[in-house]
Amino acid sequence: MRLVKLLSVLSIALSQVQACRTDEDCSLNGICVHTTRHGKQSACKCDTGWFGDDCARLDLAPATRWTGYNHTNATQPDDWKANGNSSWGGTIIQDPEDRGLFHLFASQFEHGCGLSGWRPHSFVIRAESRTGPQGPYVYADRVTDAFHHNPQVIFSPADDKYLLYMIGVDAPEYTECRSFSYKQWPNNISVASADSPQGPWTAPQLVLSSAPPDAPHSTNPSPWPLWSPRNPTHEIALGVEDIAIFSAPRWDGEYTLTHTQTWNTTEYSPTWTEDSFLWRDKRGHWHALAHWMIDLVEHDGQKYPRVGAHMFARQLTGPWHFHLHEAFNSSVAFTDGSTQVFKRRERAKLFFSDDGLLTPLYLVTGVQDMGETGRSYTLVQPVGARWRGFEEGLGL
Ligand SMILES: *[C@@H]1O[C@H](CO)[C@@H](O)[C@H](O)[C@H]1NC(C)=O
Ligand SMILES: *[C@@H]1O[C@H](CO)[C@@H](O)[C@H](O)[C@H]1NC(C)=O
Ligand SMILES: *[C@@H]1O[C@H](CO)[C@@H](O)[C@H](O)[C@H]1NC(C)=O
Ligand SMILES: *[C@@H]1O[C@H](CO)[C@@H](O)[C@H](O)[C@H]1NC(C)=O
Ligand SMILES: *[C@@H]1O[C@H](CO)[C@@H](O)[C@H](O)[C@H]1NC(C)=O
Ligand SMILES: *[C@@H]1O[C@H](CO)[C@@H](O)[C@H](O)[C@H]1NC(C)=O
Repeated sequence: MRLVKLLSVLSIALSQVQACRTDEDCSLNGICVHTTRHGKQSACKCDTGWFGDDCARLDLAPATRWTGYNHTNATQPDDWKANGNSSWGGTIIQDPEDRGLFHLFASQFEHGCGLSGWRPHSFVIRAESRTGPQGPYVYADRVTDAFHHNPQVIFSPADDKYLLYMIGVDAPEYTECRSFSYKQWPNNISVASADSPQGPWTAPQLVLSSAPPDAPHSTNPSPWPLWSPRNPTHEIALGVEDIAIFSAPRWDGEYTLTHTQTWNTTEYSPTWTEDSFLWRDKRGHWHALAHWMIDLVEHDGQKYPRVGAHMFARQLTGPWHFHLHEAFNSSVAFTDGSTQVFKRRERAKLFFSDDGLLTPLYLVTGVQDMGETGRSYTLVQPVGARWRGFEEGLGL
């Protein structure tokens, strides 16, 4: 009995730590709970989908092999290279009328050119799944011609439209796989709209050009409509490279730079990132995921395993915070019991619950197996625990 008492006293003493003082210490992905009157003992209570002392790690569940959009083996006789229907991440949209149908808008590379020929051979495709958000997705149609890349589709309630943000400009047809610099094929951001995920999509119109003053921000767009039931505005926030923030009065209006980050965004600095993904949570706070390039900096050009960064702010215009550890890495556990460390894992995008809680249910990334340079595909990985209930609700 004495021993038990001693142990419990000891464990209380050990847990008398102040793990957090504010919700910022919990990355705004949870709340700081003070368990004693004087706040001597505290800990983060993380929202579903996040874990870790500071709630900044994405709680990834095992992925299933041959789900997502993995058609690296889909070669056609007239392909120029053997990278199949390689792809590089995308956005999942649940069909508004046919709730058992999921659409994936992804970047695919033409003529088997693969990831190494992404510019200018990338184009935007729509693929479909009737087996839930994890897929496997089957090619449905071509949404744009090359060169268009990194699509993010979002529903704008104020406009009752789907908006497709992407980078790229129209490229001529080539007769071999090539790879161009951004100087020749600019990453201009454009937007198209449609009444349904199946389209038809309007012609893409320019949002930001890759010339000054929009440069160097004009790449990797991530929109978030500011609409809410209490504030039915048409305003759109647009996160871009380096988590710089633009705002527009409406999706087809003029986009103005409203915030740039205070951390060092220079290449090869420890806070060097790309590929922004922006969202507003259930509390009205802002978050972003980005591709963190820390291993390139610290390990001489290596692109794994620390690939995902999380940033957050109470207000869109900051201050934003960036805890310098990874939100997720390129090591993926599969339901068959295997674990695979990918050479590259980028273009992170989340699919959220639609119950107003914005619980992350799935993470979509572009991945590349170790040893590959051309072949790449789109991996969908469940997050936390709520995705199970979501799939049960679909009758899966
Ligand atoms: C993706 O497809 C390739 C074959 O093209 C295969 O080797 C690889 O294991 C697949 N990966 C997953 C996660 O399904
Ligand atoms: C590609 O892989 C899938 C999944 O294993 C398989 O069903 C399909 O037959 C393969 N296609 C080719 C062309 O090898
Ligand atoms: C591969 O992509 C082409 C379009 O480039 C499409 O016609 C074909 O159906 C796709 N095949 C598979 C298996 O995804
Ligand atoms: C893309 O941006 C460049 C400036 O870098 C501009 O000259 C060009 O007109 C833009 N192209 C399109 C199709 O919007
Ligand atoms: C930003 O990072 C770069 C690359 O590491 C470095 O050369 C530069 O001095 C840094 N700038 C500041 C203001 O810290
Ligand atoms: C990847 O992240 C998970 C979860 O945080 C961790 O358990 C694992 O050790 C990490 N793997 C690598 C290779 O960093």
